[in-house]
Amino acid sequence: MAESSVQLTGVTKRFGDLVAVDNIDLDISDGEFFSLLGPSGCGKTTTLRMIAGFEYPTSGSIKIHGREVGLEPPDVRPVNTVFQSYALFPHMDVRENVGFGLLMKRVESSEIARRVERALDMVQLGKRAEALPEQLSGGQQQRVALARALVNEPEVLLLDEPLGALDLKLRQAMQIELKELQERVGITFIYVTHDQEEALTMSDRLGVMHDGSLLQIGTPEDIYEHPRSRFVADFIGEINLLDGRVGSDGSVVLNGGYVMPLDHSITAGSSVNVALRPEQLHLVLVDDVDLIPPNASRLDGTVGRRVYFGESYYYEVSSDAGALDVRQENRPGLTLFDPGQRVTVHWDPSAAAILEE
Ligand SMILES: Nc1ncnc2c1ncn2[C@@H]1O[C@H](COP(=O)(O)OP(=O)(O)OP(=O)(O)O)[C@@H](O)[C@H]1O
Ligand SMILES: [Mg+2]
Repeated sequence: MAESSVQLTGVTKRFGDLVAVDNIDLDISDGEFFSLLGPSGCGKTTTLRMIAGFEYPTSGSIKIHGREVGLEPPDVRPVNTVFQSYALFPHMDVRENVGFGLLMKRVESSEIARRVERALDMVQLGKRAEALPEQLSGGQQQRVALARALVNEPEVLLLDEPLGALDLKLRQAMQIELKELQERVGITFIYVTHDQEEALTMSDRLGVMHDGSLLQIGTPEDIYEHPRSRFVADFIGEINLLDGRVGSDGSVVLNGGYVMPLDHSITAGSSVNVALRPEQLHLVLVDDVDLIPPNASRLDGTVGRRVYFGESYYYEVSSDAGALDVRQENRPGLTLFDPGQRVTVHWDPSAAAILEE
């Protein structure tokens, strides 16, 4: 296990009656790319601001490299923040923008020059050092903002929706760049976003927040494939949720009488959701039972809409257990189904997440 970089224990932040951050625990390793993901107002920025020192926790402890910093002012913490609105000085060129903070701290000029060059190299803007912000694209301006933070040689970089102002294409290109940069410089990134795809593609681990609480922490695979709550399942990617109940024999019974295995014990009679990703479901005609693996879970339904997505086909299937969206990867020889056809939907039992209500 790598050394701990940022550690939050029982951190709560209240604004009057409002609990913006509710008793969260977080242990981020040295050199990790960690994302905080959640909908608007869930407490992401407040958490980041407490790590930076722009807010103080109402209770709880914040440690950076083992040192308690929770009540220290921002300028003595070994962290820097990159915000969504990066407000560069319009009349200063790239080099001056990046070096300005060091100038204010009265760092020696040869040292400033050395660190600015290094920071500009990191974000691959060495050749644009003399440009004014208005002469740069949005993505380049954001890289200047990054260099302005990196020039302080922080141990931890905090990023609050830094790509939010960019259009989709540029945002995707910058995601890859940022990830490569983080791997190259090896400093800890704590990245705030409400974009689940961004969090999944960039992070080593992520934490999903809701109403001030951290609901689940894990690797992208872990969170996507094994969500532990309805909120996490629903927030990340597309998912089918079927209502079920735990029967007396410990299996899950869905509407229509379908029975699913349950791999952990939940009290008989409890209400549960069976969560299934569209791409983990398979379709066969109702009569083609030979095509279904013997231990598969299954239910019968009727094809509604079929939508072509190029790389896949998307079906809406209605069944007694509820509506299911099914995604079939497009490949040569793929059987297509038409609206109105009776089908059996089947899946590997391990693909289902059983969520307690
Ligand atoms: N200074 C403040 N005073 C009072 N309430 C605040 C303050 N800052 C944040 N809040 C409240 O705390 C809650 C969490 O806000 P926060 O900015 O952390 O959310 P967020 O997850 O970053 O949302 P977004 O995705 O919209 O940026 C919100 O209900 C917000 O209104
Ligand atoms: Mg925010």
